[in-house]
Amino acid sequence: MTRVALVTGGMGGLGEAICIKLSALGYRVVTTYSPSNTKAEEWLQSMQNMGYGFKGFQCDVSDFDSCGACIDEVTKAVGPVDVLVNNAGITRDMTFRKMGKADWDAVLRTNLDSVFNMTKHVIEGMIERRWGRVINVSSVNGQKGAFGQTNYSAAKAGVHGFTKALALETARASVTVNTISPGYIGTKMVTSIPQEILDSKILPQIPLGRLGKPEEIAGLVAYLASEEAAFVTGANISINGGQHMY
Ligand code: CAA
Repeated sequence: MTRVALVTGGMGGLGEAICIKLSALGYRVVTTYSPSNTKAEEWLQSMQNMGYGFKGFQCDVSDFDSCGACIDEVTKAVGPVDVLVNNAGITRDMTFRKMGKADWDAVLRTNLDSVFNMTKHVIEGMIERRWGRVINVSSVNGQKGAFGQTNYSAAKAGVHGFTKALALETARASVTVNTISPGYIGTKMVTSIPQEILDSKILPQIPLGRLGKPEEIAGLVAYLASEEAAFVTGANISINGGQHMY
């Protein structure tokens, strides 16, 4: 049976690597892109040229109704979602004293409300079919906090609270819900941090002495989506080069 995997925010950064990995493993892969993404068709075409037949659907993950409409479209066009990877996220880094309400709201809506908004529309189907995987992408900074990220750290910590509670509720239907907490990975989100902050404050905190690779995160997602991971639920798996251990 070919399972359907939906990756939010799959057209860049971690999401793209996750789409590629799941596709290579035989999943039918669907990704969402935000209404502000003007390069979606271009991305889909470039992936097509590389041999990946991804389907893309526009979706504002911060909006409940947009997520509902997106899942309806995906279900009709591709089939019911078996694996949901809640990956879409943004940063609006600044010290708390500079942070406005709009900066708080944007990050909480996109990074935390989105997890509710997407999961709500797929979970009943997973429970009925008695198989499902919800994989929530959190962050090392949700575990330990980060200078300049009160909004992001709060949202990402909230994601794992959601994971633990939902994992309890869906376990009997063999639907697993897990969090992964990547550290600093070599994507635009990280490489756009000012170089002097990266060099002086961040890299020295990573015992492995380098940024992670998107493919390393994708490998972990693939494991959690697999049959072998059926006994893993409610977990928060760190993948951060040793930056934070607990
Ligand atoms: N730890 C301790 N002190 C820090 C610091 C840090 N990580 N970062 C900045 N500071 C210090 C600065 O050295 C400066 O000190 P002085 O006044 O003594 O010189 C002071 O804080 C204020 O710094 P700035 O003037 O740079 O303040 P700013 O408001 O202009 O910028 C900032 C603050 C935007 C948060 C900037 O420091 C920054 O971009 N930091 C990186 C934040 C970060 O790690 N984001 C993660 C993005 S990647 C991601 O989120 C993915 C993931 O999941 C891991």
